[in-house]
Amino acid sequence: MSSPNRSAPLTFLEEHSERRRAELFDFLRIPSVSAKSEHREDMRAAAEWLAARLRDAGLDAEILPTAGHPVVLGEWREAGPDAPTLLIYGHYDVQPPEPLDLWTSPAFTPEVRDGRVYARGSADDKGQLFMHVKALEAHLRAGGEGGALPINVVVVAEGEEEIGSPNLLPFVTEHRDRLAADAVLISDSAMFDKGMPSLLFSLRGLAYAEVRVRAAKGDLHSGAYGGAVPNPAAALSRMIATLHDDRGRIAIPGFYDDVVEWDDEIRAEIRALPFDEERFRDGVGAPALDGEAGWSVLERLWIRPTCEVNGLLSGWTGEGAKTVLPAEAMAKISFRLVPDQDPGRAIAMLREHLASVAPDGVTVEVTELHGGRPWKADPTGPLFDAASAALEEAFGTAPVRVGEGGSIPIVVEFEEILGCPALLVGFALPGCNMHAPDEWFGLDEYDRGTAALVRLYEELGAAL
Ligand code: BES
Ligand code: ZN
Repeated sequence: MSSPNRSAPLTFLEEHSERRRAELFDFLRIPSVSAKSEHREDMRAAAEWLAARLRDAGLDAEILPTAGHPVVLGEWREAGPDAPTLLIYGHYDVQPPEPLDLWTSPAFTPEVRDGRVYARGSADDKGQLFMHVKALEAHLRAGGEGGALPINVVVVAEGEEEIGSPNLLPFVTEHRDRLAADAVLISDSAMFDKGMPSLLFSLRGLAYAEVRVRAAKGDLHSGAYGGAVPNPAAALSRMIATLHDDRGRIAIPGFYDDVVEWDDEIRAEIRALPFDEERFRDGVGAPALDGEAGWSVLERLWIRPTCEVNGLLSGWTGEGAKTVLPAEAMAKISFRLVPDQDPGRAIAMLREHLASVAPDGVTVEVTELHGGRPWKADPTGPLFDAASAALEEAFGTAPVRVGEGGSIPIVVEFEEILGCPALLVGFALPGCNMHAPDEWFGLDEYDRGTAALVRLYEELGAAL
């Protein structure tokens, strides 16, 4: 990046590289864990800190209340009413850092090792959200040739993504006029590999349920009662075992009815990606991989639905043995969904299926927790071309098109409510431990990605 005629914003980025890093680390030090009420004040602090940085960058910023954690809204509309408007979405909340003893350095004390910053939220999503703030700043503060912005910008940073965005849809609906945009841009995902910038063509949806199986009115002595009274842990295990067939397909009647087949072009593109299944297996450390027969690993991760048991609880799980016949067993079960599956329908099918396979003598209660619809993009046209050009310039190679197995529930709703397409460009690297101990973000991706965003805003001036 030492071309003599690079634009003023790119020069600004380089000249402020140290401050850009120091500020990111300040952001990462705030433990903005949305799931825990003890972090309410930290959530507030993170929102205020972010609003202050948006103002430093040259935007107007305010903190808008919701029924839960607030939304930080940034606005810069000086490109004028005839210029296009870009909505940038991200989240300032993070997942809980537990288990703490598995972190090499503390989760909220950013530490640089091997060109990566390790901290909760570094990749998901504070690091990626902050790249946008800095790319905007580079345009608005650099002045000179290529400075300012050819587009109006609205930044929406929410504080509840990691708990399923329970208050974002009402927020977007209420403020739909203020959020009106020609495109939505989101950086909350990953690159296919180092040196391979990536544009997303899909996200899976999510349907999450809690299942409770009960028998006796309280825990019983397993000797005095076992053999006569139903065991909810055993009943639930048998029920869970019916969720898949032996070819890895979900065995709930009707589950695949709404799955639309992907076109051959996308499947061919997925097959052409340089993906090493053995390296992937080695990376996760499991003795073997599994999943639905007849589909490659990437297809199973990106374009096929899944059913996972996320948690199980029943009976005695403490030290040593306790001869107990539990009164209740609980499982957290979720589905990743693909177009055109619907979270509510998936939970309804689960409820019906579990009721039909439950052994006699237990009751079953299925509670829907949260969900989100799957998203699929048309990865062609001016928006994607603009992103391709910007990524190619910053990374020195044209981007690949990829799917994503994770979910960002608001994406489809943004498209529907605002009536504009979404563009998802992520910069985390595979293996970056999102949601796990030792989450990290590559500092090279931080710098190059921010430069790519600087260029992307310029490209969007012409493309939108
Ligand atoms: N940033 C992730 C989504 C993601 C995960 C993108 C992995 C790329 C790779 C997002 O913050 C997330 O974790 N979403 C949740 C949604 C849920 C809490 C409703 C998910 O996918 O589990
Ligand atoms: Zn996440």
